[in-house]
Amino acid sequence: MVHKFNTFVFIKENNMAESLNIDVNLSKEEKYRLLLPQIKALIEGEVDIIANMANVASALYFGMNFFWVGFYIVKGNELVLGPFHGPIACTRIQLGKGVCGSAWQNMETIIVPDVDAFPGHIACSSDSRSEIVICGKKDNVVLFILDVDSNKINDFDETDKMYLEKLASYML
Ligand code: SME
Repeated sequence: MVHKFNTFVFIKENNMAESLNIDVNLSKEEKYRLLLPQIKALIEGEVDIIANMANVASALYFGMNFFWVGFYIVKGNELVLGPFHGPIACTRIQLGKGVCGSAWQNMETIIVPDVDAFPGHIACSSDSRSEIVICGKKDNVVLFILDVDSNKINDFDETDKMYLEKLASYML
């Protein structure tokens, strides 16, 4: 079955409306392989980072069927909630706090198989069970955090890390 994302209609240079498509029965890797070029095409004509974050959050949320997908933007000494898709979330996270603040501090991806086992995890929703946090960095400086949550335990692995890091690099 092909799930056609009519809500994702966007206009390309030729003014043709397009939408993102994904087959919901594919494996995780196949979904990423199909989605990434579509997301790249969606954001590459737009320079506004907030607009691109909004579309990426929506595309990953619906395309990968995640529980929560969103961005935290580095502003001074804290992370501030940016565009996201899913339940409401905490708005500010300090450096070193929670999974997002730890990823920012360490400047690298963190995969949390069980959020209850991560000391200091910030529970924005009790339905979130596992998560992956990616750093968007340029010239060795973290500019934003991409946080993806699942309502299933142990839902993220090296495949997610590889594709989500690649996706974050498209946005810089
Ligand atoms: N889980 C995050 C907080 C953000 S919410 O999950 C959206 C953390 O501990 O950093």
